[in-house]
Amino acid sequence: MSTSSLAAGRAQMPEGSNRVLDERTLAASYRTLAALLKPGMAVLDVGCGTGAITRGMAELTGPSGMVVGIDPGESLVAQAREKHREVPGLAFQVADVYTYAPDVSFDVVASARTLQWLADPYDALQRMAGFLKPGGTLSVLDYNHEKITWNPVPPPSMQLFYDAFLRWRADAGMQNDIADRLAGYFETAGLRDVAVTSQVETVRRTDPDYAAKMSIWAKVAETRGHQLVADGYVTEAQRVAAVQDYTAWLETEGDHMEMYLLAVEGRVG
Ligand SMILES: C[S@@+](CC[C@H](N)C(=O)[O-])C[C@H]1O[C@@H](n2cnc3c(N)ncnc32)[C@H](O)[C@@H]1O
Repeated sequence: MSTSSLAAGRAQMPEGSNRVLDERTLAASYRTLAALLKPGMAVLDVGCGTGAITRGMAELTGPSGMVVGIDPGESLVAQAREKHREVPGLAFQVADVYTYAPDVSFDVVASARTLQWLADPYDALQRMAGFLKPGGTLSVLDYNHEKITWNPVPPPSMQLFYDAFLRWRADAGMQNDIADRLAGYFETAGLRDVAVTSQVETVRRTDPDYAAKMSIWAKVAETRGHQLVADGYVTEAQRVAAVQDYTAWLETEGDHMEMYLLAVEGRVG
């Protein structure tokens, strides 16, 4: 099987992922984007998931604007339509960035935490740039999963699971360090005024939502973990140990975690 089809299979969001996606907001989870959005703009959100961040975009572009969220996950798009049906100017479509062919052009094309799941992110990036009006802005937010830090270090069972997770992704052609490659891709694709902004997400024990945020890796092991077991990267016992030990760790010893993300913006034309 090619890495592209392996990646497409592995990128499918497992049951239960909406718990993580629904907690995100434009203000907290895509901090550079709000400044680019004005009433009346046409905006495309690539890999919109359940639409929590897309909704925030439509609240800024207003009823005179148009925001389209695309995602290949049929159930995610159905949930997005259901949850945000009352927001004017907001629509969701089941579509894949590699084949999407919009009949309009956009002022802003944005994509958060999506290129990390693709085996050919540069192709996707070029396609996204092609969806823009002349002078339009491409904005991509993504991770370097190799630069995550926890303090203190998480239990060995979670370290084993996390290492397996990164190998499982890399073996499908996904780039675990995509955040640090984005600016080069923007330059190669001919985008202008390329700007890189650190979007590190820090979770501290003193935060009111510490447990919800810190538990992301227990949720990944609970949901994606089944795919890693099926693909032979961890055993079921190792997956369960990672969930249990990490949950106990975050309740007792865990203090803080930093997830490394960059937002990269550039203009066409
Ligand atoms: C981690 S989620 C991010 C969702 C949302 N943007 C956020 O930041 O919370 C990644 C999304 O990318 C979508 N995705 C995966 N492959 C895609 C593709 N080829 N084209 C468009 N979206 C894709 C997945 O279905 C998933 O909803």
